[in-house]
Amino acid sequence: MKKLDKKEYNGYGVLAELTFNINKLFGNLARYFFNLSHKFKFEQYKIIFGERKDDIYISTYPKSGTTLMQMILYHLTSDGKMNFKHIYDVSPWIRNASFIGQKPPDLNSPRIIKTHDSYKEFGKKTKGKFIYVYRNGMDVAISNFYQQKNYNNSDLKLDKYLNSFFKQKKWFKHTREWMINKNKLSILYIKYEDLLNNKTKEIDRIISFLGIPRNKKAINRALKYSSFEFMKKNENLFGEQRKVSEKIFNQFIRKGKSGEGKSLLAKEQKERFMVYYKRMVKNVEEKTFGQKLNI
Ligand code: A3P
Repeated sequence: MKKLDKKEYNGYGVLAELTFNINKLFGNLARYFFNLSHKFKFEQYKIIFGERKDDIYISTYPKSGTTLMQMILYHLTSDGKMNFKHIYDVSPWIRNASFIGQKPPDLNSPRIIKTHDSYKEFGKKTKGKFIYVYRNGMDVAISNFYQQKNYNNSDLKLDKYLNSFFKQKKWFKHTREWMINKNKLSILYIKYEDLLNNKTKEIDRIISFLGIPRNKKAINRALKYSSFEFMKKNENLFGEQRKVSEKIFNQFIRKGKSGEGKSLLAKEQKERFMVYYKRMVKNVEEKTFGQKLNI
């Protein structure tokens, strides 16, 4: 359908355009102040939560195996009681907790803290250690697509989701910055795929990195309770903290496999992925993990 030409607007048309632009301006201002208020809330939260030198951060791009790592670390660093209501009770996602107005929990050390924040949130003086879980970006895209589709927008189409994934390049930027590690934070890099293929070996690397006792009981517990089967069966302990009535899809612990991206992305989408991957991730991945690339 043809749009009205500007010249065809009479006085009301001008008023309509003016008020439309004012509305847009207020919309942007409202968004700006909404974000600012959450920034202040988070800063306040961090002051109360404090920092400890033995804090352990799990840093990931969303859908890279964060929850799996939370379970492994929880069992390696505690007596492993399984009486919590949600993993966030024992391993908080502090950005989200401040967003939804939760009180900072009082936790024993070492605290296991989940973060999806960008690297620049952590300055040179950040105390504690980091475990960065890295997963094949195409699989990350698919997992995020299903997260959006199952929890927020059941009409979402993969093509549309992938277009915005490539346009925003958030995965590429997040991965690049965390691997460059400009502030020389203490980071152990773990591949999600290595956790699938040889979890025992990766647990061994984690224990060495953290300098915690190599406790056989704790290792066996970590293996048992971080298995896909256990976590799938007990999905209510993980993922979205929604009211039961809103939890329609229940797909947070979904497939837990590698390679879905390669089979679901079309040829052009894979090519597009590779262009950004080569430009932004490949060389830092080589430096971090050696020549065996995750692609
Ligand atoms: P899929 O959607 O590909 O199945 P995060 O915790 O960062 O949100 O990551 C979620 C992804 O990790 C999902 O991937 C989920 O199924 C997978 N996952 C969760 N627990 C897992 C486990 N114990 N073993 C393997 N994969 C797991």
